[in-house]
Amino acid sequence: MIQPNPSITPAEGRLGILLPGLGAVSTTFIAGVELIKKGLGRPIGSLSQLGTIRLGKRTDRNAPFIRDFVPLTRLDDLVFGGWDIFPDNAFESASKAQVVDAQSLAQIQTELSQIRPWAGVFDPAYVKRLHGTHVKTGATKLALAEQLMDDIERFRVEHKLARMVMIWCGSTESFLQASDVHSSLARFEEGLRNNAAEIAPSMIYAYAALSSGVPFANGAPNLTVDIPALVELADQRRVPICGKDFKTGQTLIKTIIAPGLKARMLGLNGWFSTNILGNRDGEVLDEPSSFRTKEESKLSVLDVILREDLHPELYENYVHQVSIHYYPPRGDNKEGWDNIDLFGWLGYPMQIKINFQCRDSILAAPLVLDLALFLDLAQRSGMRGIQEWLSFYFKSPQTAPGLYPEHDLFIQLMKLKNTLRYLRGEELITHLGLEYYD
Ligand SMILES: NC(=O)c1ccc[n+]([C@@H]2O[C@H](COP(=O)([O-])OP(=O)(O)OC[C@H]3O[C@@H](n4cnc5c(N)ncnc54)[C@H](O)[C@@H]3O)[C@@H](O)[C@H]2O)c1
Repeated sequence: MIQPNPSITPAEGRLGILLPGLGAVSTTFIAGVELIKKGLGRPIGSLSQLGTIRLGKRTDRNAPFIRDFVPLTRLDDLVFGGWDIFPDNAFESASKAQVVDAQSLAQIQTELSQIRPWAGVFDPAYVKRLHGTHVKTGATKLALAEQLMDDIERFRVEHKLARMVMIWCGSTESFLQASDVHSSLARFEEGLRNNAAEIAPSMIYAYAALSSGVPFANGAPNLTVDIPALVELADQRRVPICGKDFKTGQTLIKTIIAPGLKARMLGLNGWFSTNILGNRDGEVLDEPSSFRTKEESKLSVLDVILREDLHPELYENYVHQVSIHYYPPRGDNKEGWDNIDLFGWLGYPMQIKINFQCRDSILAAPLVLDLALFLDLAQRSGMRGIQEWLSFYFKSPQTAPGLYPEHDLFIQLMKLKNTLRYLRGEELITHLGLEYYD
């Protein structure tokens, strides 16, 4: 029997999950939780619900479920709220997204219809393909942030919530580099008052969350909370944050395959990735400035895994290309093709072809659940600021300044599980294993 760790506050009461963007990912997540609660679905793809964690030596044969090992909020205690720039409720939005089938949605229509988005904070300069009608107005960006804080507080009171987390599931914003206004909290707050153009809507949501003491995760590749000003605010308010860009689909597969090639010291001449996608996300990414943000996020993973600087004879000048094509007939059912040109012993060339027929939101939904539960756990454990142990979930993990992110999925998993062991005062697992041969 696992004893409670007194330094982690128990997961008592209800947890509110705030979702800016009530589109395909958000509604697939909410619908999934509601179906699972009714026994009509299973939480496949969720480490927090299905994963186990080995404790002690292999001979101890002790591998409890993660959900039994650390105190996580029960699915029955989750309450959902969100914002969108279109007024569709979660049932209407899920129906339009066509990810979960109509028959399943009909069984949770009552629950989903009750989730009506609050008006969003929107700036068409940041998402050029969408023309939102359900948006807040305010004289300054600070006034908009205050309106978001009012929504958060109303939600807390109305649903008698013990705690909240916010997960950005809104559209990918235009490419933006950190600049002076992002460099400190004081500069950022001045920018909010002066309507600085470099403050994107997602940053206003993150500011509202952190100012309300609510942990924040960023599911899109936008900078959002990955700027010194908001890291400062998170540290000051003792709130956990993490990001960026849910690791699903092609990049997930890339960070599974690439560590294997590297582990066997196989060389790479090129990796060509392309995919077709027909949902609203695909439409937004069809616009060059939003795609640029996504491209940066997708391209970075191989460099860190392969380490060309250490292994020039294997990885020097390899070509890495990524493209996304908006192809409406495919809806959320993305199809990705990868061609990997590799080489082995004596330089002899080989190829790997991957054809992944996936479902974008089906892969992303369990990540939203895990991130919400683990961010809440982090907060109850007294952790604050950047949560690098949640890199497992991201294409472009946020790290401390100057630290390169780990992209290898297996290093990320080890980091995550060792953090859970650490939180519960269990011995960390190094896989050394010499003790079995003493
Ligand atoms: N599905 C995946 O596998 C995956 C993986 C990585 C990242 N993402 C990212 O997750 C995000 C959500 O993806 P999706 O498929 O649900 O997209 P979607 O287009 O279906 O949903 C996004 C929603 O956000 C709304 N929105 C846009 N700007 C907003 C704002 N400022 N405030 C409130 N709402 C706003 C849109 O109206 C839309 O309803 C996207 O940024 C996407 O790039 C998805």
